[in-house]
Amino acid sequence: MKTGKLITFEGIDGSGKSTQAEKALEFLKERGVQCKLLREPGGTPLGEAIRKILLAPVDSGITMNRYAEYLLFAASRAELCRWVIKPLLKQGFTVLVDRFGDSSLAYQGYGHGVDLDFIRRTNEVATDGLKPDLSILFDIDVETAFARLEDANDRIENEGINFFKRVREGFLKIAEQESETYIVVNAALEIEAVEEDVIRAISGRM
Ligand code: TYD
Repeated sequence: MKTGKLITFEGIDGSGKSTQAEKALEFLKERGVQCKLLREPGGTPLGEAIRKILLAPVDSGITMNRYAEYLLFAASRAELCRWVIKPLLKQGFTVLVDRFGDSSLAYQGYGHGVDLDFIRRTNEVATDGLKPDLSILFDIDVETAFARLEDANDRIENEGINFFKRVREGFLKIAEQESETYIVVNAALEIEAVEEDVIRAISGRM
């Protein structure tokens, strides 16, 4: 039986969600909440090895078709959910995850055209049925997000602007469909203003 809360941080590259996830972790810790911050892909030995493959630099010679790519993300997720997230939730930890299953729906599904139902069904297996209690979408226009990326050099960051526009729209659709779970914050605002919105969202669910 799950006891702790699972909070996921979603958004396109450059949306600032990783910075906000760190701030949310500090906020919860200061209030004495037992919590952990994890990221996808990664968080287990296999997951970190998969991360290196998925985020290899563009000149690494590693290419992959969109299904192979999705299945690698799903494999990393399958490890993280079973070995790390579920045990932490059972111990009562609040678990913050920088990206989760909806990143696959947005990037591989809406972005790359992998069948959405296929992703939904297999994500169910990868997550072992785990569903977030709260998902925060850091919404930002693609141009502003790109301007924030200092060094876009990994395979995924190198996709064109139209790819990221599809990913952003995908995230917005997901948030609309899962409106009970999602809070959408305007990630183009000043860092402190975004932080306030995040803290309000989290406090409302704890
Ligand atoms: P990372 O450098 O951690 O980016 P960020 O800090 O923006 O999260 O790399 C994660 C990359 O992997 C990012 O470009 C999004 C992508 N990704 C997918 O395409 N599908 C997925 O299921 C996940 C979890 C990530």
